Amino acid sequence: MKWAVCHPSDHLLDPSCGDGRFITLHRNSTGVERDREALAKAVTGAPWATIYERDFFSWAQETSQRFDCAAGNPPFIRYQRWQGQVRDDALALCARLGVSFSSLTSSWAPFLAATTLLLKPGGRMAFVVPAEIGHATYSAPLLEYLARSFAIVHVVAVRTKIFADLSEDCWLLYTDGFGDRTDHFRLSSRAVFSHTDELPREFERVALTEWRSIRSRLRPFLLPASIRSLYRELQDDSRTLRLGDVARVGIGYVTGDNDFFHLRPSEAAVSSIPQEFLRPSVRNARTLPQKAVTHATVRAWLNRDEPVLLLRLTACQALPASIQRYLDTPEAERAKQTYKCRMRDPWYVVPDVHVPDAFLSCMSGAGAALVANLAKCVCTNSVHALRLKNGISVEALQQGWNTPLTRLSCELEGHPLGGGLRKLEPREAANLVLPNTRLPVSREDTLLQEGIDIMKRWRHCV
Ligand SMILES: C[S@@+](CC[C@H](N)C(=O)[O-])C[C@H]1O[C@@H](n2cnc3c(N)ncnc32)[C@H](O)[C@@H]1O
Repeated sequence: MKWAVCHPSDHLLDPSCGDGRFITLHRNSTGVERDREALAKAVTGAPWATIYERDFFSWAQETSQRFDCAAGNPPFIRYQRWQGQVRDDALALCARLGVSFSSLTSSWAPFLAATTLLLKPGGRMAFVVPAEIGHATYSAPLLEYLARSFAIVHVVAVRTKIFADLSEDCWLLYTDGFGDRTDHFRLSSRAVFSHTDELPREFERVALTEWRSIRSRLRPFLLPASIRSLYRELQDDSRTLRLGDVARVGIGYVTGDNDFFHLRPSEAAVSSIPQEFLRPSVRNARTLPQKAVTHATVRAWLNRDEPVLLLRLTACQALPASIQRYLDTPEAERAKQTYKCRMRDPWYVVPDVHVPDAFLSCMSGAGAALVANLAKCVCTNSVHALRLKNGISVEALQQGWNTPLTRLSCELEGHPLGGGLRKLEPREAANLVLPNTRLPVSREDTLLQEGIDIMKRWRHCV
């Protein structure tokens, strides 16, 4: 709050003031809050403030008030839960401001964009933002917009939790000089942050051009410049390649009800399901061996009576009576009601079942596993399915896989998921950099390892 308010007379706006944590700190303040209970607390805490019980986006379009500064902690509502008219109106308002957010946007980003509508020229903002500002695709249009609307855009990355009661990692955003523009972001990092801290004086200058060249992500700039430039050099080195150059990375199939569609050998026997309708499947990364899924691996699964047999039916097939009976069980009735099954016809045909050349674990605390598929298994969407191209073999890929270069690449191309986990979406996995031939162990590896350790600390994996 102290960052945003320069003079006691400054008029401060908190667009989602909740119980009034920010507006209680400044006499000349206005808050907006749609939750009546939170608003009542805000009124008690800041009786001098003007507080509107409204949806911020509709209020923002009606009010003629303009503010010297804005501060707060906007709601972090993910796109899956942020639906309906309020969301549509918010995105339409942002589009009119020239910020085009996709429907995958979390609510805080449109909140910040819409707040700028109410600033006086030269105005400032200071907001708590999710650490996703450092990597989420939807953060890019917001940061682009802020750079063309403010003289200063300063992001403060904070490694440890700012709010102990929030599961989300939070960073801070400060902007100043509304009506101007900048060609770089300021990025500071802090291991811990206290509410009394001043705006950091030291920062990294991140040129927009460089930020755009790495898919508009600020997170890689948490690394020292020496490690960033080494990674960039190795990316461009003829001895390295991108996974996407030699493999198509896709997701496995989605059944809608994994328990119904995956049978144990004992269950298949009891229901007399013929072998030709059952395919051994990798259901999740935990079941993956280190190097390869072999026939021996599958035999071991079956001997342990694990539920790894996918019921693989096709639309134009005559179904034996035993399968018809299985499709009439109460479990089948439950499966039929799931969203995925309701969306397809016939409901029991699982689409996109393919036999990939290799599997890639997409969510992990440590490295990502690359495992050959020698047993012609299929896989669910809990792992990625790799189809190789351009004559590369899985063994050749595996040779370079566990090198510091590829492990750092997993950290930089993937994104943190919370709880120490890292996720690789298919398009992120396609960007992974790996040695074309085994790179000699060199002094560079120490530097790359240092980069891995730093990025793992930032995602709380130690
Ligand atoms: C993270 S809380 C922030 C509260 C306060 N600034 C603080 O730091 O304690 C976000 C608040 O936004 C409010 N909110 C969510 N959507 C809103 C909307 N469309 N208009 C106004 N307030 C909204 C919620 O009710 C919630 O109180």
